[in-house]
Amino acid sequence: MGTEQKGKLDGRVAIVFGAGSVGDGWGNGKAAAVAYAEAGARVVCVDRQRAAAQVTAEIIAGVGGDAIGVAADVVSLAEVQAAVAAALETYGRIDVLHNNVGITSQGGPVETDEATWDRVMTVNVKSMFLTSKCVLPIMEQQGSGAIVNIGALGGVRWTGYAYCAYAASKGAVNSFTQSVALQYAARGIRANCILPGVMDTPHIYQQISGFYNDHAEMVAARNKLSPTGRMGDGWDVARAAVFLASDDARYINGVELFVDGGMHARCG
Ligand SMILES: NC(=O)c1ccc[n+]([C@@H]2O[C@H](COP(=O)([O-])OP(=O)(O)OC[C@H]3O[C@@H](n4cnc5c(N)ncnc54)[C@H](O)[C@@H]3O)[C@@H](O)[C@H]2O)c1
Repeated sequence: MGTEQKGKLDGRVAIVFGAGSVGDGWGNGKAAAVAYAEAGARVVCVDRQRAAAQVTAEIIAGVGGDAIGVAADVVSLAEVQAAVAAALETYGRIDVLHNNVGITSQGGPVETDEATWDRVMTVNVKSMFLTSKCVLPIMEQQGSGAIVNIGALGGVRWTGYAYCAYAASKGAVNSFTQSVALQYAARGIRANCILPGVMDTPHIYQQISGFYNDHAEMVAARNKLSPTGRMGDGWDVARAAVFLASDDARYINGVELFVDGGMHARCG
């Protein structure tokens, strides 16, 4: 559908948290789930919205893949445990853990209220702690596994948006990932981050549009933010995810892979 990496994940099982999309079209998590399937993996599509998880699983089935949709909120240990149990019950193993869930909030320290700060940290960072807590013992028993965490360019650079909670949470995703990568490197498990720049996904129309007067202004401004003159999309993230999850990246561990058209390297 959007990738040409057939066979790269044959025989593997991927669990994707945040595998749906908040709107029609292709979000980063939905595209990644389908891309894993196109590469040969069986996919456990997990989402807080059961219907959204199901839509992605049905798309995968429609292209001849094998997937299940599971409802779980990533901030609940019990629900994450149940999703992981469903994956094991259905497919017997987990080779790829993909953490896509992330929410954005607007404002600096003065404008952001305490509850918002806590919510962003919990959804964006604690979620990865919980999913890793449940999946790492399985990967360790298998002697192999790959974790792909979705960070953001905004976690390491000022991208033009005052969203301090989001920026701090995505910075934490990087250090969390590095810590797991190094702790588990000698046990056959790799952990890497993807740092998208500005991507044209349904997410931005819901969670970034508040920074602008209207959608047209947002799209024009975000296209301009990229050195390429246009935003990337969910498939750009998905292709990078398949690469990092596959044996092509077998010696790549603990990296922060920018998928941003070069935006990270630009000054001003
Ligand atoms: N679009 C961009 O420009 C951009 C840039 C940098 C990073 N990112 C990152 O990409 C990720 C979002 O990608 P997307 O396009 O798939 O987003 P999305 O907002 O469409 O979310 C994907 C799915 O996550 C689910 N979800 C939300 N909260 C959940 C929870 N608590 N538990 C379980 N599921 C939950 C939603 O229901 C949705 O179906 C985030 O981590 C975001 O920070 C996006």
